[in-house]
Amino acid sequence: MKKIIFLPVISLLFFFSACKSHNTDAGPDKIDSKVDSVLNLMTLDEKIGQMVIYTSDWDVTGPTLKSNYIDDIRKGNCGNIFNAHTTAYVRKLQKIAVEESRLGIPLLFGYDVIHGHKTIFPISLGESASWDLEAIEKSARVSAVEAAASGLNWTFAPMCDISVEPRWGRVSEGAGEDPYLGSKIAAARVHGFQGDNNDLSDSLTILACVKHFAAYGAPIAGRDYNTVDMSKRVFLDAYLPPYKSAIDAGAMSVMTSFNELDGVPATANKYLMTDLLRNQLGFKGFVVTDYTAINELVNHGVAANEAEAGLLAVKAGVDMDMQGEVYFKYLKKQVESGQVDEKLIDEAVRRILKVKFMLGLFDDPYKYCNAEREKRLVYAPEHLQAALDVAKKSMVLLKNANNTLPLEKGEKIAVIGELANSKRDLLGSWKAAGDWDFMKSILDEIKTYNGENNVLYSEGCKMMGDDRSGFAAAIATARKAQKIIMVIGESCDWSGEAASRTNIQVPGVQTELLEKLRALGKPVVVVLMNGRPLDLTREDQTADAILEAWFPGTMGGKAVTQVLFGEYNPSGKLTMTFPRNVGQVPIFYYEKNTGRPIYLPNDKYKSKYIDCPNTPLYPFGYGLSYTTFEYSDITLSSNTLKENGKIEATVTVKNTGSRDGDEVVECYVRDLVGSITRPVKELKGFEKIKLKAGESKPVIFTITPDMLAFHQLDMSYGTEPGDYKLFIGTSSADVKETSFKLE
Ligand code: BGC
Repeated sequence: MKKIIFLPVISLLFFFSACKSHNTDAGPDKIDSKVDSVLNLMTLDEKIGQMVIYTSDWDVTGPTLKSNYIDDIRKGNCGNIFNAHTTAYVRKLQKIAVEESRLGIPLLFGYDVIHGHKTIFPISLGESASWDLEAIEKSARVSAVEAAASGLNWTFAPMCDISVEPRWGRVSEGAGEDPYLGSKIAAARVHGFQGDNNDLSDSLTILACVKHFAAYGAPIAGRDYNTVDMSKRVFLDAYLPPYKSAIDAGAMSVMTSFNELDGVPATANKYLMTDLLRNQLGFKGFVVTDYTAINELVNHGVAANEAEAGLLAVKAGVDMDMQGEVYFKYLKKQVESGQVDEKLIDEAVRRILKVKFMLGLFDDPYKYCNAEREKRLVYAPEHLQAALDVAKKSMVLLKNANNTLPLEKGEKIAVIGELANSKRDLLGSWKAAGDWDFMKSILDEIKTYNGENNVLYSEGCKMMGDDRSGFAAAIATARKAQKIIMVIGESCDWSGEAASRTNIQVPGVQTELLEKLRALGKPVVVVLMNGRPLDLTREDQTADAILEAWFPGTMGGKAVTQVLFGEYNPSGKLTMTFPRNVGQVPIFYYEKNTGRPIYLPNDKYKSKYIDCPNTPLYPFGYGLSYTTFEYSDITLSSNTLKENGKIEATVTVKNTGSRDGDEVVECYVRDLVGSITRPVKELKGFEKIKLKAGESKPVIFTITPDMLAFHQLDMSYGTEPGDYKLFIGTSSADVKETSFKLE
């Protein structure tokens, strides 16, 4: 029989704090030996207890709820909790773990801090449209500081799922369609959460979690949780890069995805969780499932029952069972009967304990539970300022006929639409602990800025439904104004998880009212709130100006107002293609040329639609400014790129308008002939520059061979010599072009 050494309560804690070794200073070897010394004391039950995470009853982010989690903590059957926050509540639960469980091992506290904890930033898709890595990192930093101040030590972010599927509601949580930009943003977010040096022992950093591994962003028909079926090459070249980048940036946890890949659900996928993630990508942290994803292996049809499902998951390399109770119910028996080698359990527990040591939880399990600090840091003025800054940077000016925008202060404005007066919707999906009572709506902020007497409001209609009874009042209100602003779009619950749509138009009768307002002959501005690319064909034909504001967060009302009135010159650009209609979906800029491209002379037998152009309404990388920019031709330092060499591509960008502005300069390449077909364009670099009115600046992109690598015919990763095109421009569809040869 195994001998159990009984330790006095909290002895582990005293032991480790007596050592006074700072966890990250201790180096991997020291941490490993500390981990082993804890592991040696643990019973099999206690080990399995570390391999589960349960939701508290504070928030629900999935279908089931376990009611007795507090008792499980006490018994050592639950080593991790999510959806619990505030220093008071976290302290209460941590105290039970540390003082009442036999070994006193501290808990991890996870939460979906996706785009802010209390101070909410724009939804992640919106943030990505800023193309501003510093601002995005800052957003994650502020989120981490507020989360850590509220008792948390782990966020289920960044979401690194590439997606070309606007029907899928979860595109709102990611960084859009592009692997290169997505990778840069994934790394920025990890640095923001885990701090510059990945020093998890810093009490203002939190553990990042790369999710949803892998390829969750490509569900067939855009239906959430649906099957994913893609070639390995597409997976490796287009979908894997952002996950890899987040892991390279130091993220110490990964979440499995709900979907299958090539017939094997991710949560049972040894190729993904062990061969690729650990052996090839060198991931050193632990893997947690998504919510009840082990149980769902039964529905997927790869396990006959939950016990079998658990076996598949643990053998695939999944360390922690979120909410499913499968490990809790079956693992012990499976170890005892020899179906699972206890070594596998030890490895999983080692990985989890290691992160707990890195976080410094054994030194001080209450390090995130300082109530005074919580009060001081949550909603700190500089956090709100950062949220305002990112919100403005995330907005994309989609149309601005006759320079309708910016508005002039003091003009009589009619504000129409339910969304104009909504605070809650500004927060978007995954609002964490965001609090809308604290906030101001777009309408409130426009009134404050433009003067109460200069702003007339009428709701007109709801976001949803077909009630037109408010139309007449809205039209009467609009008649009294010089200009009309209509705020339309989706409710915040219409994107995010389990929010797929087959119709991606603006819902309800909002656009119908917009058309009626247009008939008054006054300038009409649309402000859009939405979490996905929408079909805006009707709005584009109707409105004079369209500002894409996404769900802009706590400071969203002010940010929209400042952009509308020209206090900030918009600089955001789309990171997902906006189609003309849902029939073009999936649509993305890095498509292949096909054998019958549309530019061929014959009329019929080409890759095209007979009822719609191939081009999108608004392409990837597109966004206007209140000023204009002119691009010179590209000059190359050489037309030949040698192995281990580089070439520099330079354009001069001039601000040709009368306002200062920021411009995202985008650089793409095309490999003209390959061993496999290659995309017509791939983003390889970008720079966001500031230009005063009339000012010019050179922008230089350095091209090196490694930037041109891909998985070739034989699946090896590398470059192929030959001819390439190089493009630099203001969007994926508006570029200057030159060419070079790779030797
Ligand atoms: C979502 C994850 C989330 C988890 C925990 C799941 O339903 O897919 O993204 O992190 O719940 O809330």
